[in-house]
Amino acid sequence: MPRYAITTFGCQMNVHDSERMHDVLRRAGYTEAGGPDEADVLVLNTCSVREKAEQKLRSEVGRLARWKRERGDRVLVVAGCVAQQEGERLLKQMRAIDVVVGPDNIPELPGLLGDLALGGLPVARTVFDVDAPRFLMASPTPGAGAQGGAPAAFVTIMKGCDERCSFCIVPYTRGPERYRPSDEIVAEIAALVAAGVREITLLGQTVNSYRDPLGALPRAPGASADDPDESEFAALLRRIAERVPGLARLRYTSPHPRHLTPSLIRAHAELAVLPRHVHLPVQSGSDRILRRMIRRYTRAEYVARTRALVEAVPGLTLSTDIIVGFPGETEDDFAATLSLVREVGYKGLFGFKYSRRPHTPALKLPDDVSEDVKGERLARLFEASEALLAAHLEGLVGTTQEVLVEGRDKQRGAGGTLWSGRTGRHEIVHIEGAGELDLLGEVVEVAIARANKHSLQAELTEAARAAARPRQRVGAGDAAGAEAARPARRVLPVIAAEGG
Ligand code: SAH
Ligand code: F3S
Repeated sequence: MPRYAITTFGCQMNVHDSERMHDVLRRAGYTEAGGPDEADVLVLNTCSVREKAEQKLRSEVGRLARWKRERGDRVLVVAGCVAQQEGERLLKQMRAIDVVVGPDNIPELPGLLGDLALGGLPVARTVFDVDAPRFLMASPTPGAGAQGGAPAAFVTIMKGCDERCSFCIVPYTRGPERYRPSDEIVAEIAALVAAGVREITLLGQTVNSYRDPLGALPRAPGASADDPDESEFAALLRRIAERVPGLARLRYTSPHPRHLTPSLIRAHAELAVLPRHVHLPVQSGSDRILRRMIRRYTRAEYVARTRALVEAVPGLTLSTDIIVGFPGETEDDFAATLSLVREVGYKGLFGFKYSRRPHTPALKLPDDVSEDVKGERLARLFEASEALLAAHLEGLVGTTQEVLVEGRDKQRGAGGTLWSGRTGRHEIVHIEGAGELDLLGEVVEVAIARANKHSLQAELTEAARAAARPRQRVGAGDAAGAEAARPARRVLPVIAAEGG
């Protein structure tokens, strides 16, 4: 049986696409190899959002020429956004590549590999499924949870993007917006929850522009019929909360600020399943730059919307994405971004140096902020956001928090750290001194003992300790059975983009 390995670059959408490739290949009779060295087929799932990410693919393929030479029948597949962007050109430029497959063509991968095995020529398939969009479902194994035992899973609700942010290649690599029927989304979430998943993250490029293509959702409370920014996202959240009561947490990423409408704010105020954290990319705090970026909101509109959200859900935290050094960004524009970061008080921030991308409207503008200035602005940005996070984490010491336990820590800390997870606001918490208990997938109450730079140290409260199950009693009744029933999450090698 041929063996495969997948290496993933880039965002959560790519991590999710890699999971679907695992499903598709396994169903076609392939088995997963321990790593590229043992693989007959190697898939590189690529990212092209910044130039650096794209360069990573090129150097990786260069390195893999040797891997291919070691055995003549080895197959190298390039998937993801660089595949979509470059298509056939990749085959011409890099002879080591055998198959190029776009994000919408994942189901065709086994067929393409089969043709190649029968002597076919290298091939590129990068066609958007605009007429009949396909959304591949997760196939959870009962008891183990989806994605190999993790208590958290991703569910795609839409793909593509109809915005035209002037810096962004995504509308080009992922195509126009296509939405998935709400019944299908609810069914997938229900199946995942039945298999042991506790937290779902809804995925989409502008996840909150969602509309049900079959018109199956009632209008959400607070939704205005004549607001062009209104969508059916709040209605979808309500439908999920109502139909899947066993779900502990429902996150989503990434929303566009212009669809943070009153109906969505109201859903946050009323649905307990929505955690008190939202990642809301802002990109810049300068109106002049926001206009050039074609973001379609002003700083004041963004601030007003986030204020309304925080007023509706006290204690809600926000994180964001910011680009520094966009064409024409002056010191004053950057100062406006820094002041916005402090005004909103983000508790997390991904910062990126502007990078010119093919096919984007901003190519018309000169990339006139020097690499040095970009680097220096990024450093100042991180300094500001680290200070905000440190003060926030420090302020949580002595409080009790609810943590969804997502896994075991790789390294035991001095205090015997074993479990880690996240609060509803997404803070990372390490739980000490609970090594004898089985906490995976549980929502437990902890007392925060200390703050680290990016996370918190905590101990179970007495009540949580009394309610927790000892490790040996889980699953089949013996320790070996317990381990087998809860396999560790399959570790997909993820090569993160630069920045935050
Ligand atoms: N809507 C997507 C965003 C895709 S890109 C989502 O769901 O996450 C992720 C982030 O990369 C953007 O928010 C932006 O901050 C950054 N980015 C995109 N294009 C970029 C470019 N050309 N240069 C630098 N950063 C970029
Ligand atoms: Fe990119 Fe803007 Fe869409 S950042 S993904 S074009 S919302």
